[in-house]
Amino acid sequence: MTTAVTIPRHGGTGGRTAAAARARQVVKAYGAGETRVLALDNVDVDIAKGQFTAIMGPSGSGKSTLMHCLAGLDTVTSGQIYLDETEITGLKEKKLTRLRRDRIGFIFQAFNLLPTLNALENITLPMDIAGRKPDQQWLDRVVETVGLAGRLKHRPSQLSGGQQQRVAVARALAARPEIIFGDEPTGNLDSRAGAEILGFLRRSVDELGQTIVMVTHDPVAAAYADRVLYLADGRIVDETYNPTADQVLERMLRFSGEQSTAHRAESGGHRS
Ligand SMILES: Nc1ncnc2c1ncn2[C@@H]1O[C@H](COP(=O)(O)OP(=O)(O)OP(=O)(O)O)[C@@H](O)[C@H]1O
Ligand SMILES: [Mg+2]
Repeated sequence: MTTAVTIPRHGGTGGRTAAAARARQVVKAYGAGETRVLALDNVDVDIAKGQFTAIMGPSGSGKSTLMHCLAGLDTVTSGQIYLDETEITGLKEKKLTRLRRDRIGFIFQAFNLLPTLNALENITLPMDIAGRKPDQQWLDRVVETVGLAGRLKHRPSQLSGGQQQRVAVARALAARPEIIFGDEPTGNLDSRAGAEILGFLRRSVDELGQTIVMVTHDPVAAAYADRVLYLADGRIVDETYNPTADQVLERMLRFSGEQSTAHRAESGGHRS
């Protein structure tokens, strides 16, 4: 288990960090008093640039909360979040909105496409809103990478679920964000379409140098990642590099065993 708080720095990158995003001593509490829930409990993590990171853990362990805090979609109770060299904790909403728009890409479980726009218009929409001209060569490459050539004039309702999610992936990649966050991006897809999307995400890391953080429940999905972080009760309790799906599954089962042992010990304590 690694919870190193050293901040790696490249000598030749003008002071830029090797980490695309960092969390330092992040605490996120919901509610107060009796109903207070500690969703994140002193989380320290570095998300390496150009890597595919998966976040796993039981339901309620804090995966979505961690992703939302890293992506500036939610505020922290205490601690710091950095996007590269920018501390985003403490930014005012207007700056945060602009930072999310300009530097971060998102892929959600629900594809969140606009039904009246065709695939290409959906892909370029965030850049249109930001008033940026898409780089045509890059756009062609992204469309090619996710296998959407020939489908660009179709509306979402004319596409399969897997194709719609490919549009969402292309939309996230098109603006060349520093980091893409996905919360169970394959959660609504059958296993074949899911495998396809995961393959595209993997290719975007290998061939386009993209940085990706993906929350998932699925050991098979996590096995596409370079690194898997395991959350339990709001803490990062373990990590593995380049695991197979079986290794991820085995690790998850070991946790649920450890957790139920801990719960038994707790309730034993209450009884005495
Ligand atoms: N808005 C909220 N208000 C109160 N409690 C919340 C809120 N959002 C999350 N929580 C609590 O924080 C904890 C972590 O939630 P989170 O959604 O991060 O879990 P998760 O690991 O993503 O779970 P799942 O796998 O079910 O999506 C849970 O106990 C949850 O009930
Ligand atoms: Mg969640």
